[in-house]
Amino acid sequence: MVDITTDVLIIGTGPAGSSSAALLSSYGIENVVINRYRWLANTPRAHITNQRTMEVLRDLGHEVEQEAYLFATEQELMGENVFCESLAGEEIGRMKSWGTHPLSKAEHLMSSPTFMNDLPQTFMEPLLFKTACKRGSNARMNTEYLRHVQDSDGVTTTCLDRMTGKEITIRSKYLIGADGGNSLVAEHEDLPIAGKMGVGGSMNILFKADLSKYVAHRPSVLYWVMQPGADVGGIGMGLVRMIRPWNEWLIVWGYDINEPAPVVDQQMVTDVARQLVGDPGLEIELLSANTWTVNDAYAEQLSKGRVFIMGDAAHRHPPSNGLGSNTSIQDAFNLCWKLASVLKGQAGQALLESYNTERAPIAKQIVTRANQSIGEFGPIFEALGMTGGSDIDNIKANMDARCGTDPQAEAQRAALNAAIAFKKYEFDAHGIEMNQRYASDAIVTDEQVEPAFAKDEVLHYQPTTWPGARIPHAWVFDAIGGKHSTLDLVGGGKFTLLTGLGGEAWCEAAKAVGDALGIEIVCHVIGPRQTYVDHTGDWARTREIGDAGCVFVRPDQHVCWRSDALSVDPKADLKRVMISILAL
Ligand code: FDA
Repeated sequence: MVDITTDVLIIGTGPAGSSSAALLSSYGIENVVINRYRWLANTPRAHITNQRTMEVLRDLGHEVEQEAYLFATEQELMGENVFCESLAGEEIGRMKSWGTHPLSKAEHLMSSPTFMNDLPQTFMEPLLFKTACKRGSNARMNTEYLRHVQDSDGVTTTCLDRMTGKEITIRSKYLIGADGGNSLVAEHEDLPIAGKMGVGGSMNILFKADLSKYVAHRPSVLYWVMQPGADVGGIGMGLVRMIRPWNEWLIVWGYDINEPAPVVDQQMVTDVARQLVGDPGLEIELLSANTWTVNDAYAEQLSKGRVFIMGDAAHRHPPSNGLGSNTSIQDAFNLCWKLASVLKGQAGQALLESYNTERAPIAKQIVTRANQSIGEFGPIFEALGMTGGSDIDNIKANMDARCGTDPQAEAQRAALNAAIAFKKYEFDAHGIEMNQRYASDAIVTDEQVEPAFAKDEVLHYQPTTWPGARIPHAWVFDAIGGKHSTLDLVGGGKFTLLTGLGGEAWCEAAKAVGDALGIEIVCHVIGPRQTYVDHTGDWARTREIGDAGCVFVRPDQHVCWRSDALSVDPKADLKRVMISILAL
């Protein structure tokens, strides 16, 4: 007997599940989202929120984006990434991070209408979840996923109602497993997972203490503490992480995964906090403490039939580079418009296969990147002479040696500077956040060659309208002086065509093809005396097509086709492209 029927059942209310629910409800798709617990994230795990994620929030609505900024710590307070013996002890080095270096800041400003910020998961989840529920999602807490079976028409899922102890059955057309790093949905579908779980051990200690006197003059999200044992297990180094400036903190300290997990009690966490802060008399108000393991695993296949996995269910990795929650939300942005199109009868089922084709390579990429970043702390320890065991006197002597005037000391300082600067691959890797390009049947390149990256693609975002890439950002202006990003002109669950003067026939084609397929295709002509004017010429310089050409953009803001100039038969071209993308 079926107790509940819906179009999409989502397991999990984390960043992946809550954003899926919010997006599906925004697109008018009925969905049920469940969580086995009574409420959302109870610790502020994810925090670094990158520009691409903020673009998803902006697409969900101005009020969603603004509320995120309201609760976030702003970018300016994120950037003085400090390496030190302890917060009170000697500072060993520093690097500008998270888009606060003047050169990086310029790249951030030119890339997106949004700002990177620090939004703890304890704020992000309620924002997404609230948006979902307000717009129509049916949320069911204390409801635990147990198992599912899929057939050719849908999925039947059995859950445990933890309040009554009774099993309930939910019938949906599709199932999303956003159930985190120990995903049962992935396991039950037998989706192949490459890599290893549990490659390192870490403990989180969440506490309140006013540490302003150690940090306010060098504002940062992360203070890296180099003490003997800091490179054991965990995320590569001891970490004091700001949750709220400057009186709420999370310490991350590693332990050897081959030993039993340490007993994390009040005395132990107070000792660790005092040691990393460097204040033997520090009093902390402990909020929570727990251990967790570092993973290095990704799903090689993100879907099977009517079942999809996303977020940590699909990519399991340490927090390095801050990519976890960001990628989870971006997975949802990729999948949800496709589900909506199929459920509305506007697309064929085959469109859904492109979720796997497009997102599986990203899962692998970010897991690899995050784990590589752990290893890249090594040269800092080496430069300081901290790799030769735990003999404190020896370590101290090696660290003192860098203060000398001899050539070895100079070489040691140079090695340390280089090792710290190299950490930009973790702390300022704008490219990995923004350069995602897709290749699948839901993109029509017409054999246009992908542009090569002119700079390091991990560090630098490179705008392009090559089909597969996210549409580049440029400001355009309306008649009363308001400025709009090109990203604001697209998205919102719709396909959009951007053209310029002489390309009006594209808009006629968009109307005709849209009417024939029963889909709204938005069209904007950008040019003088049009609704949007490119006063600065930034869009003309970025768009890589002529005035009368067009850039055709999917609901997830990725370009799916473009034409250099007005074609002989715009209607026929657009129809061909839509039929191909939507698998009709
Ligand atoms: P998540 O684990 O958040 O959610 C899973 C959901 O499924 C939960 O609601 C859970 O209750 C539910 N669930 C599980 N099993 C269920 C079942 N059987 N039945 C019903 N419900 C079930 N990321 C980032 O982008 N930036 C950052 O700065 C950081 N920093 C960071 C620091 C630390 C210390 C950690 C540990 C992690 C990070 N992360 C991060 C990673 C980030 O926290 C992580 O990637 C996201 O929470 C993943 O979101 P998901 O929604 O996929 O899973």
